[in-house]
Amino acid sequence: MFELTPSAVAASDRLRRFADEVRRDLSASPRQLQSKYLYDSLGSCLFEAICRLPWYKITRAETALLDREADAIVAAVGDPLTIIELGCGSGAKLVRLAEALQRAERSARVHLIDISTEALALSERTLGALEHVSVVGHRATYETGLRQAAAARRGGGPLLVLLLGSNIGNFDPPAAAGFLDQIRAALRPGDALLVGADLVKPEAELLVAYDDPLGVTAAFDKNLLARIDRELGGDFDLDRWDHRAVWNAEASRIEMHLVARGAQRVRIALAGLAIDFEDGETIWTESSYKYDLGQIARMGAAAGFEAEDQWVEPGARFSLTRFRAS
Ligand SMILES: C[S@@+](CC[C@H](N)C(=O)[O-])C[C@H]1O[C@@H](n2cnc3c(N)ncnc32)[C@H](O)[C@@H]1O
Repeated sequence: MFELTPSAVAASDRLRRFADEVRRDLSASPRQLQSKYLYDSLGSCLFEAICRLPWYKITRAETALLDREADAIVAAVGDPLTIIELGCGSGAKLVRLAEALQRAERSARVHLIDISTEALALSERTLGALEHVSVVGHRATYETGLRQAAAARRGGGPLLVLLLGSNIGNFDPPAAAGFLDQIRAALRPGDALLVGADLVKPEAELLVAYDDPLGVTAAFDKNLLARIDRELGGDFDLDRWDHRAVWNAEASRIEMHLVARGAQRVRIALAGLAIDFEDGETIWTESSYKYDLGQIARMGAAAGFEAEDQWVEPGARFSLTRFRAS
């Protein structure tokens, strides 16, 4: 009798969910795809390249804030400490906090949560090299990973949850509120939440950050179609799609769209789809909401957090807010 291993079952569940969500979202109006699917192995590598582009300032700005404030951030949480990073990417920012712990001769258990195998492997390697932290990786969505990690709180001590890189900005306002509620529900009074969020700035700066002259962000966006072709048996012709970034001032968000160059029929075998796209028709692939400082504090307060510190990197207009669960 042939039996699938647990990891093969998980992989086939993930593929089925991907196919179901692609079918639902490409059939919706407007047509869309979820931004979490941008991060396959190549997508995560392209995102790391984006972080190095001169036009994408978020990573350098947040790292500068962490370099400056890491000692204060870790001093505000006690021992034995458990840190959970939601959507950790490379883990490079968490290293800044780990270094502050080392300076204070402290240790921590770190739970790394990311939907991308590539990002998780990279962050596990990066954090695993440090002797004073023990690392647990979760290849999972934010919600599932948070549930697993919060249940493994170390010795009854405090939790510090990290939501960096403006990951919060990928949620629309109701979803962001629901997500902050979920985080709060996983915490106890006194636990801490650190949120990195990008602030509103001039439109030209925002547009070039999401549509760079080297075309790296365009490749990151179009790679989602390549992923659908590869994993779901799609036949998107990548040469017939363009990347477009739009600033939606009313909603205070950057939107990334893929735009059909010419009318075309696309089939996606595993999603059971055949779609006739018109010339210029779009697929909405990501939103990145931009905030003001008061709005970030209010979003936290609505979920049961008190903003204890807010820091701003003035050049790039990027913020870090340290919340306490009340
Ligand atoms: C914009 S990157 C930021 C990475 C890192 N936090 C930083 O600041 O550089 C978003 C990361 O979150 C992960 N991610 C996106 N959506 C996710 C989801 N729904 N559940 C878990 N991870 C997710 C991606 O794989 C990616 O590594």
